[in-house]
Amino acid sequence: MPYSFENAIADKLAEKHKQGLLRSLCQPSGIDFSSNDYLGLANHFEIAKAAADAYIKYGAGSKGSRLLGGNHKIFEETEKWLANWKGTEAALIFNNGYSANVGVISSLCDSKTHLFCDRLDHASMLDGYAIGDGKLHRFKHNNPADLEKALKEVEPDSFKLIAVEAVYSMEGDIAPLKDYADLAEKYGAMLYVDEAHSDGILGPEGKGLVAQLGLESKVHLSLTTFGKAYGTMGACVFGSKLLIDYFISSARSFIYSTAISPGMVVAMQKAVEVSMRDGFRRDSVLKMSADFRQKIKEAGMDCLQSETQIVPIVLGTVEKAQKCKDFLLEKGFYVPCIRPPTVPNGTARLRINISASHKTSEIQALAEALIFYIQSL
Ligand SMILES: Cc1ncc(COP(=O)(O)O)c(C=O)c1O
Repeated sequence: MPYSFENAIADKLAEKHKQGLLRSLCQPSGIDFSSNDYLGLANHFEIAKAAADAYIKYGAGSKGSRLLGGNHKIFEETEKWLANWKGTEAALIFNNGYSANVGVISSLCDSKTHLFCDRLDHASMLDGYAIGDGKLHRFKHNNPADLEKALKEVEPDSFKLIAVEAVYSMEGDIAPLKDYADLAEKYGAMLYVDEAHSDGILGPEGKGLVAQLGLESKVHLSLTTFGKAYGTMGACVFGSKLLIDYFISSARSFIYSTAISPGMVVAMQKAVEVSMRDGFRRDSVLKMSADFRQKIKEAGMDCLQSETQIVPIVLGTVEKAQKCKDFLLEKGFYVPCIRPPTVPNGTARLRINISASHKTSEIQALAEALIFYIQSL
């Protein structure tokens, strides 16, 4: 048979199907436990109205990359506001967390860089490394001793970058940031913390884990994403003016991409303002998550070291996780099944995201359905 690219792609897709790794798009139905809208802000009227007003005032598009005509004054005003909110010298808005991680990591990784990543770091950090250079060291998840072992092995005067998440997106556990900050200091490394799943939830007024632990002066760079707890979209990198100036000149995902619309930038700031004011959302999501975890742990389920609104239930094989997901869907709960390569082999799981928009009775009903399912296996 002559070569055909359609056949080659069909073969690749068939292989994924065989491995149980085919992905497909679907609409969540039933009570949604998949959403990252942890504070229930995605449909908040005040935020949507601020965005809508700004879209009408400034238009739907930014017209270009920030460096070529797209630098609306709203960006710089909001960056100043955001830097002040986080207590850093400077801030830089990116279109989303994925492009922020790709831009930050790739621009810091040249042939002399040693990048130290937790084994469970998000794909966007690894993709940043893939288009950069240098040497990658992946240390055991949430394991400062393993990080130190790797740090000890590299030349003392090399450029070292430690990149970690504050709360892990598929585990819901919290990184030992204080230990990482001490190691960064001891070995002269730069510390970058991705607060995608901690911002809005942890820390004073939801300022994240770095603020909760009082590590602002020890963390050199951090990332907030607005598509999760803040219910909008976009991202912001925080650090010194020196670092932000460097990214403006070097982060390819910043330089070579049309800026997000000014209306969305207005929405980002409004979402932070609402989340700071509405502390009850944070309190409620943390309390409901703790109660839920306690119930399912008592029933013998493995939710790893989760301490947050992200509650994994590890079932092992893809087939087992998929069956449990289907059962819950029948009962009216939409819970995603997370499979390798997103998580390590043999740890396929359900990932339950609790949100302030859930009712206590809905979470109680989900716990009961899960317990029934597991006990009837
Ligand atoms: C830890 C982490 N960083 C970055 C991202 C990417 O953020 P965004 O969805 O804004 O592209 C995600 C999203 O899945 C994430 O979980």
